Amino acid sequence: MAPIITIERHILDQQRLYPDSTGAFSQMLYDIALSAKIIARETTRAGLVGILGASDDHNVYGEQQQKLDLFANDMIFKMNDHTGRLCAMASEENDTLIPIPAQFKTGKYVLLYDPLDGSSNIDVNVSIGTIFSVHRKISKGDQGTLEDALQPGRRLAAAGYVVYGSSTMMVYSAGNGVHGFTLDPSVGEFLLSHENIRVPNTAKYYSANQGYEKYWTPGVRRFTKWLQGIEGEGREPLAHRYIGSLVADFHRNLLRGGIFYYPGDMQKRTEPAGKMRLMFEAQALAFLADQAGGYASDGVGNILDIQPHDLHQRVPMFIGNRDLVVTAETYIRNYDQDWVKAYTAFREKQAVFSG
Ligand code: AHG
Ligand code: MN
Ligand code: MN
Repeated sequence: MAPIITIERHILDQQRLYPDSTGAFSQMLYDIALSAKIIARETTRAGLVGILGASDDHNVYGEQQQKLDLFANDMIFKMNDHTGRLCAMASEENDTLIPIPAQFKTGKYVLLYDPLDGSSNIDVNVSIGTIFSVHRKISKGDQGTLEDALQPGRRLAAAGYVVYGSSTMMVYSAGNGVHGFTLDPSVGEFLLSHENIRVPNTAKYYSANQGYEKYWTPGVRRFTKWLQGIEGEGREPLAHRYIGSLVADFHRNLLRGGIFYYPGDMQKRTEPAGKMRLMFEAQALAFLADQAGGYASDGVGNILDIQPHDLHQRVPMFIGNRDLVVTAETYIRNYDQDWVKAYTAFREKQAVFSG
């Protein structure tokens, strides 16, 4: 029988690679795994316990929050506020940096998270997820500051996601490859099921909300035709799959090969930066893609190199097989000069506003 490796054992084995480690980092990953198990339990019971349905609150983006969003948000916070491992947290559902309560000790990491991703899919029983990432504290003093949170993705200490699908999986990287664990509900443990995930060389899928093609730039439309084998050298078309939960779309493409994109447009939204949140979605998945041999771009360059200036800033995203993402960049460079100018100017303006 092959050895059964729990997420705890795997994290501890990884920790042994760093003899100077205090273990705080490993414990933190384990706390995240525990929060994931509790959220998974609520997700599967959602219809039974009357937790389904929209609450009256709206988040900073003006979107209606689902009750399960609030539950997940609270759960992750409560599991991590008292451990002494974090100096601050930041969540897609909170306007500002979340301080560690005064009665608890602080530590040297910042946790950023999207507690429930794909929340419009909760009520219809479609896969949803949680996304997290961890930056190291760089400021002085005990409490974390915005400076600690707003670091480029390149500097992440770890990132991962949980997908609540036909089974619950946690996938993470601490900079040493990407590893996937499947929750065995009968024993309540995440067991190593996907060791050292690599993006397959050949892509199978492209994933985008093509219903919004009308708002896309010419280059992105041509790129889509290229993926379909209509434009360019007449390649075999990729199949189109789109769930509308970023975690689930990314996860499928990570295992099967493909590209997910949510481009910036200049018509539907008031800014040319698309929909994905840099600090809660894009950085974490870009880090994982990079660790798995893939690539994530905002259409102009590597998402991991973007210097953030706002917790809630948005970014266009093209993520998956490197060759496909590079081709998207080429189409944008060749056909979307106006958009590139507008996007570059927008980013510069934002950077000035944030000082
Ligand atoms: P969230 O539920 O955290 O707000 O994220 C929703 C995101 C993401 O999960 C998904 O890929 C995307 O929104 C779907 O957007 P469209 O419905 O515009 O396609
Ligand atoms: Mn999300
Ligand atoms: Mn969310």
